[in-house]
Amino acid sequence: MNLKIAIITVSDRASAGIYNDESGPAAEKALRNAFESRELTAERSIVPDDPAKLKEALQGYVSRGFDFIFTTGGTGIGPRDITPEVTAELVEKEIPGIGEAMRAFSMQITKNAMLSRATAGLCGKTIVINLPGSPKAVTEIIEFLADVLAHSQAMIRGEDTHQ
Ligand code: MTE
Repeated sequence: MNLKIAIITVSDRASAGIYNDESGPAAEKALRNAFESRELTAERSIVPDDPAKLKEALQGYVSRGFDFIFTTGGTGIGPRDITPEVTAELVEKEIPGIGEAMRAFSMQITKNAMLSRATAGLCGKTIVINLPGSPKAVTEIIEFLADVLAHSQAMIRGEDTHQ
């Protein structure tokens, strides 16, 4: 079955064209590697660190039946960082283990990982996962999550037999 993945870059500067978005393309590349055997549709967008705009973008992908939405950026403690709050507001079931695992894994690479408040959750049948903003972090974390992403899809679709 074709997997629909959305990638939202959350960044004031990237959305204003002050710099190029490198995290969105890095996420797409890493996800295509992670799901190499699957047919995959990826759609990317860029929004500023604005709660209303991020919420609208997330809701749009949920209503269009995307399997996964990955956000990149806005998970830290900067004054404009709001991605985890908007995500927590939207999801019906939080999946705290994903954020915890990401931090535990990333702490082995950089202690700054403890500053990322990234979370994840389920909205309808869409899994929303926050990633930090750096292309390096995005790639590292998607590689780390790869097998769990496939398993989570099977669980949502009721295909998981726990064998
Ligand atoms: N996680 C990994 N795997 N690799 C990284 O380089 N950078 C960290 C962290 N998580 C990093 C990482 C840094 S420097 C910060 S400030 C936080 O994620 C939050 O990033 P954000 O505010 O861009 O979302």
